[in-house]
Amino acid sequence: MAIQWFPGHMATARREIRSVMPTVNLVIEVLDARIPFSSENPLVAELRGTRPCIQILNKCDLADPEVTAAWLLRIQATPGIHAFAHHAKQGGLLARVMGIVRGIEPPIRARPLVAMILGIPNVGKSTIINALAGRTLAKTSNRPAITQRQQRINVGHELTLLDTPGFLWPKLTPVSCAFRLAVTGAIADRVVDYPELAVFALRFFADSYVGRVAAFYELEALPADPIEALDAIGRRRGHIIRGGGVDLQRVSETFIRDLRAGAFGPISLERPAG
Ligand code: G4P
Repeated sequence: MAIQWFPGHMATARREIRSVMPTVNLVIEVLDARIPFSSENPLVAELRGTRPCIQILNKCDLADPEVTAAWLLRIQATPGIHAFAHHAKQGGLLARVMGIVRGIEPPIRARPLVAMILGIPNVGKSTIINALAGRTLAKTSNRPAITQRQQRINVGHELTLLDTPGFLWPKLTPVSCAFRLAVTGAIADRVVDYPELAVFALRFFADSYVGRVAAFYELEALPADPIEALDAIGRRRGHIIRGGGVDLQRVSETFIRDLRAGAFGPISLERPAG
């Protein structure tokens, strides 16, 4: 799939995070609950040192609750990492974060406590910042230059959020991570090849959730072959081109948009290994 990753961004990100880390007491990393592994920033483990980290598995309304529970168990077994699942319609986010903060050992005494907030594009970072701040703030640009573009947001006297640009981290390898990021909408549409993405997603669905896809499109069964499945969905939706064939681009876009919108019910694209 034609997704570009510029290694220079990685070096810039590492330098930028390292330079601001001394002022940071806590890292809040927003993950996509459907892909907690692929949406995690590998630089956090490398650069946070002994600072505590809260991982918020966001958009949990779109993820399989059983799989999310398994992820939470796995993540919470990691020293220094606290985690909970969240979605935008849930209230009480600030109380939940501060409740975790108060339980952290050794206690974080700094007031205001400075929390660096990280997350890949489209993961819901702005929605979370607005919920924590209790007001709507401008989005930080998705470019890797934290120190120039950082936004400090005061939340009462206790907490200061240090917002960072939500550019993509290099979990574009292996290619399955890149596909999962694209399926969930983290990668800009202009670099996404929809038919390739739809084929990847349908191969994944062949193992699980296949009945839900068939039911949504009112098909008796979904063909096991992804191209045949797209053909069946396209005919059902009337995405036909001159000559009677299915418009592969259009049906692929329809399928991916439906998937992103949660049309097939809550779906997790990766499970904790082992
Ligand atoms: P970002 O700063 O990380 O880029 O993400 P942002 O908060 O802008 O959210 C990206 C999209 O994800 C938005 O939808 C937002 O409504 C949606 N979103 C955020 N949190 C959740 C959640 O917990 N569950 C679900 N289902 N969606 C969530 P959008 O279509 O891009 O914009 P809009 O329609 O909300 O205006």
